[in-house]
Amino acid sequence: MSTLVSPSILSANFAHLDRDIEEAVQAGADWLHFDVMDGVFVNNLSYGAPVLKCISRIHPLVNDVHLMIIHPIRYIKDFAKAGANYITFHLEACDDPQEIMDTIEEIHKNNCKAGISIKPKTPVEKVLPFLGKVELVLVMSVEPGFGGQSFDENAPSRIAQIKDHLSKSKLDTLIEVDGGVNNDTGILCKKAGVDILVAGSYLFGKEDMADRVKHLKEDE
Ligand code: DX5
Ligand code: ZN
Repeated sequence: MSTLVSPSILSANFAHLDRDIEEAVQAGADWLHFDVMDGVFVNNLSYGAPVLKCISRIHPLVNDVHLMIIHPIRYIKDFAKAGANYITFHLEACDDPQEIMDTIEEIHKNNCKAGISIKPKTPVEKVLPFLGKVELVLVMSVEPGFGGQSFDENAPSRIAQIKDHLSKSKLDTLIEVDGGVNNDTGILCKKAGVDILVAGSYLFGKEDMADRVKHLKEDE
């Protein structure tokens, strides 16, 4: 599979969201990344299911929802109803392994694909036991909360470690990376075995968005 690109609309111009989403579609994006922040799990606030409900109707891409909220199980149904395809939550946002398993089950019960994410400082080993239960693992390459931060240089080796575990366990869980992705850091992630690149500030508001998407998608 060649690399998929999921533009993060956190970096779009919210006064022209439909125009910016259409630009991402025309640029060849595969998925659309939707960052949900609660002001508790992360300091920032963003948008929720009512906004997803409006935008999921106006584009044909996969709705890639990234929940940065504590106890995400409370909101799975809302995002599923609003059009989510993948719902990714944070391992660190749950109190214990049982809550993680319950959240994955709730996502599947609502006919969505489940993703689990880890922040840059969370040891990779913590996520490995769940990889057989989810369809996607999201490796954060910045501290979640804001767009436009610089890429964590440890992310490629963390991706490679997960990739190695997946091949040894014969699992086809997708690996996504999010934060500070540009052409250079994207290449490092592709070499490490990433499947989906999320990119916000590198893509939105740039005249050559289509070229940028094309380069991100190119096989190394
Ligand atoms: C950060 C978000 C990212 C962010 C990426 O918490 O999860 O999706 O929008 O933005 P860039 O690509 O600008 O780092
Ligand atoms: Zn994100």
